[in-house]
Amino acid sequence: MSKKTIAVVGATGAQGGGLVRAILADPSGGYAARAVTRDPASDKAKALAQQGAEVVAANVDDKAAMRRAFDGAHGAFCVTFFWDHFSPEKEQAEARAMAEAAKDAGVKHVIWSTLEDTRQRVPLSDDRLPTLMGKYKVPHFDSKGEADAFFRELTPATCLRTSFYWDNLIHFGMGPKPGPDGTLAFTMPMADKKLPGIAAEDIGRCAYGVFKRADLIGKTVGIAGEHLTGAQMAAALGKALGKPVVYNAVPPEAFRKFGFPGAEDLGNMFQYKAMFETEYCGARDLAFSRSLNPQLQTFTQWLEANAKRIPLG
Ligand SMILES: NC(=O)c1ccc[n+]([C@@H]2O[C@H](COP(=O)([O-])OP(=O)(O)OC[C@H]3O[C@@H](n4cnc5c(N)ncnc54)[C@H](OP(=O)(O)O)[C@@H]3O)[C@@H](O)[C@H]2O)c1
Repeated sequence: MSKKTIAVVGATGAQGGGLVRAILADPSGGYAARAVTRDPASDKAKALAQQGAEVVAANVDDKAAMRRAFDGAHGAFCVTFFWDHFSPEKEQAEARAMAEAAKDAGVKHVIWSTLEDTRQRVPLSDDRLPTLMGKYKVPHFDSKGEADAFFRELTPATCLRTSFYWDNLIHFGMGPKPGPDGTLAFTMPMADKKLPGIAAEDIGRCAYGVFKRADLIGKTVGIAGEHLTGAQMAAALGKALGKPVVYNAVPPEAFRKFGFPGAEDLGNMFQYKAMFETEYCGARDLAFSRSLNPQLQTFTQWLEANAKRIPLG
């Protein structure tokens, strides 16, 4: 029987890369990976081709190219790149273009990598979170949540709510930093509340599990590897690094003023997750995530493989 092709946007990146590798790691699973990239000549794209993926060129801003990239595919994994441009409007235009391309290509199962529209719980009139960019509370969440409607209207989609990547400790400046006395401190504005986290690689593995579950079409599901407080994360970090790490639970107001690009957006995001701990964790069931991806890592397992890569400066 011929394999079902899954076209993967962001295939050279964190989420899409995990999905391509999950498909290729299961040669008898009945699925083939089509990696979508802007540059098939890049080292990352060539590595995916070498591992057995079909590699096609397309930019999500080019609808005709996206339609070609999805043509003949059974499934499409759609992700956007908020931190490349910081624009909710651009993110939404790209989401709509992918949904339209998937519809035109007749894709049978789409996964839209999304997050909550926080304004459903915190309307713009609610001053607990400052309104940003005129009409958002957590711009990189709200614009994705709003874009769920494009996929719902146009495609047979599963909306996949992802979680904070633990890889942010390596790539996003979230690793512990030495304080004035040299002690490492892990900073997060979540008081004693739990943060659902996940190894970025596991998002793609869970997505692969979703593609095997036609009953999840039309549903919104959430995934996480573990729900941990900042204190629990600091303790696990200390153990993995072999030196003490303290939890620096700054107030969200202070985090918003850290001044790096996106600090206000992320300050609101952490505050939202803390305010709605029960609902936010509840939307990311660990047993369900593991049923999609039996290899799902805990934070400690992720640290065993990755602690040495965390910059401590
Ligand atoms: N960091 C977190 O904790 C976290 C948690 C949940 C959700 N998210 C969301 O995850 C999304 C990013 O996903 P990711 O981390 O997998 O991204 P990523 O690792 O930065 O990779 C994105 C890939 O997409 C490709 N790409 C970028 N712009 C493109 C375009 N215009 N057209 C086609 N391909 C393009 C790039 O590949 P080529 O150069 O090969 O084209 C890149 O390798 C963001 O929207 C973010 O909000 C992040």
